Amino acid sequence: MKTRWYKDAVFYQIYPRSFCDSNGDGIGDLRGVISKLDYLKDLGINAVWMSPIYKSPNDDNGYDISDYRDINPEFGTLEDFKEMLEGMHRRGIKLVMDLVVNHSSDEHAWFQESRKSKDNPYRDYYYWRPGKDGGKKPPNNWTSRFTGSAWKKDDLTGEYYLHLFSEKQPDLNWDNPKVRQEVVDICNFWFGLGVDGFRCDVITYISKAEGLPDGKFNPIMCGDEHFTIGPHMHEYLNEINKKAWSNFDTMIVGEGAGVKLENVPTITAEGRNELDTVISFELQEADMWMQFLPVGFKLKKFKRIQSAYQSQPDDVWNTLYYENHDQPRSISRYGNANGYYRKELGKMLAVSLLTLKGTPYIYEGQEIGMTNIVLKEEEYLDVMAKKIFRIAHKYFPPLLPIMRKAMAKRARDHARTPMQWSSGKGAGFTDGKPWMKINPNCGNINVAEDLKNPNSILNFYKKLIKFRLGNEIIIKGSYKEYFPKNKSLYVFERAYKDHRYVVICNFKEKSVNLNAIDMKARGAELVLSNYANTQKSFTDGMTLRPYEAVIFYQ
Ligand code: GLC
Ligand code: CA
Repeated sequence: MKTRWYKDAVFYQIYPRSFCDSNGDGIGDLRGVISKLDYLKDLGINAVWMSPIYKSPNDDNGYDISDYRDINPEFGTLEDFKEMLEGMHRRGIKLVMDLVVNHSSDEHAWFQESRKSKDNPYRDYYYWRPGKDGGKKPPNNWTSRFTGSAWKKDDLTGEYYLHLFSEKQPDLNWDNPKVRQEVVDICNFWFGLGVDGFRCDVITYISKAEGLPDGKFNPIMCGDEHFTIGPHMHEYLNEINKKAWSNFDTMIVGEGAGVKLENVPTITAEGRNELDTVISFELQEADMWMQFLPVGFKLKKFKRIQSAYQSQPDDVWNTLYYENHDQPRSISRYGNANGYYRKELGKMLAVSLLTLKGTPYIYEGQEIGMTNIVLKEEEYLDVMAKKIFRIAHKYFPPLLPIMRKAMAKRARDHARTPMQWSSGKGAGFTDGKPWMKINPNCGNINVAEDLKNPNSILNFYKKLIKFRLGNEIIIKGSYKEYFPKNKSLYVFERAYKDHRYVVICNFKEKSVNLNAIDMKARGAELVLSNYANTQKSFTDGMTLRPYEAVIFYQ
């Protein structure tokens, strides 16, 4: 059944709340998406991953689901959904939905039942445990990924429930076969409506170590070793794969929290029948520590990680991404987003990502070079930033300046500012009051402007996507890195049969010389560059201008 269509796909991620508002309530919605389908078609992408649109009290903007079979009324109706999906399919665009089943919302009917009594038939859908010290202390020392204890006491029965994310996101107990059957049924429901796959949220956390033992001491991330790729994860993924995912021509990509390179084949290699690909976080560590503290960007480390992933066996397929709704804007992260060379930077990053092996994801706004935003402490809306500030105020006020700096770089809010469609009021995103602050740079950075300008980042993305789709060398070619120790340039080749592309990306905002004699590529022809008047063929000595990116063909 599986054609593995995703190997020749370029994905676009939509965060629906911030994409396009059709009715002026300040919240993006499905009719807004419908109005932009021609834009997506014109961009050239052929698949969409959409962040959750199910019913949700929005504690974590939809990643806390209270009904898996219905659309959040803020976003529209099931009828709107069908129209949107039909519109995508008509344009040759596949749709991959977000599947958030490590946890549900505490407002889901299952949890509402579950908390009622210790013998409620739904009690076992979640992890309920008595506290320690006569109920005064949580059952173990695990921490939530949003900081603080991962347990909350519920007065109704006096027991605690586990939540690896917010208190409103209780973890589902996958050891209960009924829970796994619910997941199968949910997947089949959406396949029945025609969706093409799922992006499985924090799927590597679904199996917890038996007895829920205490974790090794760690004030921020405690307990990981007991639930990352836990004892039954492979078995449970196999089961869902067999009963749902493999019965349709799907792509299943899992968010691989805590996944290391050596784990990737064990979850995604073709014969495993688990996931098709996994979203690993290792590349994000090139400028980050302990999952949220920013440190200086190191190109060498970045290249080392990228190259290791590119060199995996042939039956493992990569996910390529810089941005998503949890990560800051790449242009602010890897270069000087406010400088003279902003456009060159945005285009260079596009080249460095879209010429690699795997399935690339472009996050809404990345194609116009949207940047991080400057926010005051009270303007952060994300559950994670809010919790970090709350805990710092309460327990360690001296840490506040550090937390403010960290959030200015790393908060998830940066990715969630409304899409900048035009320079007009509401940035063309809404006629009303936007749910979140719009980046004041929307006057210069917006889609309308980029569509007009042939040298815009957007028009460059279009060219690059066209270049990539159907290109055998890019899809199937081998990968080889050159000059791994170079701190400024990322240089690699992609080769297939008798031909190759040589890709050179200058990550520095200054000119850099390259002695490329070792590459034996003299005379290779220029295919694409982010500068006008670039040399037409490869020479052994070259000077790359600030953020210059070039692709040569031989
Ligand atoms: C994933 C999502 C993130 C969410 C978390 C809990 O990491 O990408 O946005 O907060 O899971 O569902
Ligand atoms: Ca709306």
